Amino acid sequence: MLVPMGDLLRRGQREGYAVPAFNFYNHPTAQGIAFEAESRESPVILMVSGRYVDFMGVRHAAALGLQAAEAVRTPVAVLLDHGATLELAEDCIAAGFSSVMIDGSRLTIADNTALTRAVVEFAHARGLSVEAELGAVGVIDDAVYGAEDAFKLTLVDPDQAAAFVRNTGIDALAPAIGTVHGLTKLEPRLDLRLLERVRQAVDIPLVLHGGSGLSDETVRTIIAIGVSKVNVGTEIKVAWRDGLQEYFATEKYEPRLASEAALAAVRKTVSHKIDVAGSAGKA
Ligand code: 13P
Repeated sequence: MLVPMGDLLRRGQREGYAVPAFNFYNHPTAQGIAFEAESRESPVILMVSGRYVDFMGVRHAAALGLQAAEAVRTPVAVLLDHGATLELAEDCIAAGFSSVMIDGSRLTIADNTALTRAVVEFAHARGLSVEAELGAVGVIDDAVYGAEDAFKLTLVDPDQAAAFVRNTGIDALAPAIGTVHGLTKLEPRLDLRLLERVRQAVDIPLVLHGGSGLSDETVRTIIAIGVSKVNVGTEIKVAWRDGLQEYFATEKYEPRLASEAALAAVRKTVSHKIDVAGSAGKA
């Protein structure tokens, strides 16, 4: 069942669990995420990055996300993840996405604020919620297991975060606290004291980006500090690949069966992340 993201996150924030948010990349990943969330009675956020929307086209990306959301009884928000422009956010909303993230984190604070404010005005006029990022979460090229210094990140400033939330009207904030998108050789060094200061400075739901590769214990600590959305992308890619590899090791070549194997592997990863998020039974 398609729902906006804001209500899901606010309930998580009130009740002390996180809503797991997974990137999808194609049909088996989108369906695997939604089916497993339904079987665990967990709310879930199905996200597709701006890069994948460019690759698939907005209508195809929307169709995959919306179809998966509507195939299940449990609440699913469909989110544009890391949208770079107002135009892309508008296109995704027009295509039926229920929420958008605008990522102006590499811009100056003034430009990030102006861009985010414009997206909030457009989305709120349609009853939809907006997530934005402050500081910059590190980036590692997809599936490259890089050295610790292979990424660049800027940590969030809590005072700036409070002003940013006030000036933009966003519904959820992703503060950069040292996590990285992708898998790194060493677990990233996180600044949890900084996360606590951001938690005190703003009252809206907080989002953890770069959830892949963090230990379960670290993620549970972050949720206990007050994060209500945990993003996982790369571990979904890895599960999809592992499922395909296992199928193709049999030397068969049926795409439907290969996708079923990938879907089953994705479901296992999703189930584990739901346990860590504490969201089972909260649908
Ligand atoms: P990972 O790929 O590191 O899990 O990050 C996902 C993410 O934060 C999507 O925005």
